[in-house]
Amino acid sequence: MSTDTSKDQSTSDIPRHIAIVMDGNGRWALRRGLPTIAGHKAGAETLKTICKEADQLGVRYLTVYTFSTENWSRPTSWVQELMDLLKYYLKFELKDLIKNNVCLHVIGDNKNISGDIRELLDAAIEKTKKNTGINLIIALSYGGRDEIVHAAKTIAQKVQDKHITLDEINETFFSENLYTSAFPDPDLFIRPGEELRISNFLLWQIAYAELYFTKKLWPDFDADDLKEAIDDYRNRERRYGTTVG
Ligand code: IPE
Ligand code: IPE
Ligand code: MG
Repeated sequence: MSTDTSKDQSTSDIPRHIAIVMDGNGRWALRRGLPTIAGHKAGAETLKTICKEADQLGVRYLTVYTFSTENWSRPTSWVQELMDLLKYYLKFELKDLIKNNVCLHVIGDNKNISGDIRELLDAAIEKTKKNTGINLIIALSYGGRDEIVHAAKTIAQKVQDKHITLDEINETFFSENLYTSAFPDPDLFIRPGEELRISNFLLWQIAYAELYFTKKLWPDFDADDLKEAIDDYRNRERRYGTTVG
């Protein structure tokens, strides 16, 4: 990922890259007296709707926070249910991803992800890699700090092995060593679900993203909410540190 903002800047008033924290699934279920997993199922359905809508609107990259490095500390049964749900979707939604021309990517530290899920993910990435529609980037076992530490270690190794000199390390080089190296920085960061925080999502990449928070819980977030967020974004003046006007 380049940090040359002129290159990363969205050229139209539609954000080229949207990042979403898909939060509020548990509360959505709780408020309906349903088991937590029902909220996550509803959240997965929302993702299908939003991915289609974003593609139709001309968004090229959609990164969705699916499971954080911190989420591993939730109860084992919760983690298991969520992973089972992910497995189900990877098995049964792949044909729709292919049909809808979605190109799937995954970012995060996959060492804790079970072998069967990794295989399903690899197969889905392979089968959708030539698709030319929206790039759907699943942040799974992802943490912004973890990603930065991982990049720092990779770079340190390159210095130690004398593949690069210290002087070659700059923001562009650092970006190229992040999980997100193939994608432009997000233009718009959306967090549904009432919380006003970043929760360790894309810390480096959102340096100049426009932030949008809504009280709507993720399972209730719909195409109109997406359009509202984009309309809000279109009225922002992105200055990148320059003077007003
Ligand atoms: C967000 O939903 C998705 C994941 C963390 C996997 P939550 O499970 O955090 O939902 P709330 O915040 O408890 O409502
Ligand atoms: C962020 O939500 C992670 C995902 C949506 C995957 P959390 O529910 O884990 O974040 P906090 O605990 O509210 O900060
Ligand atoms: Mg939450």
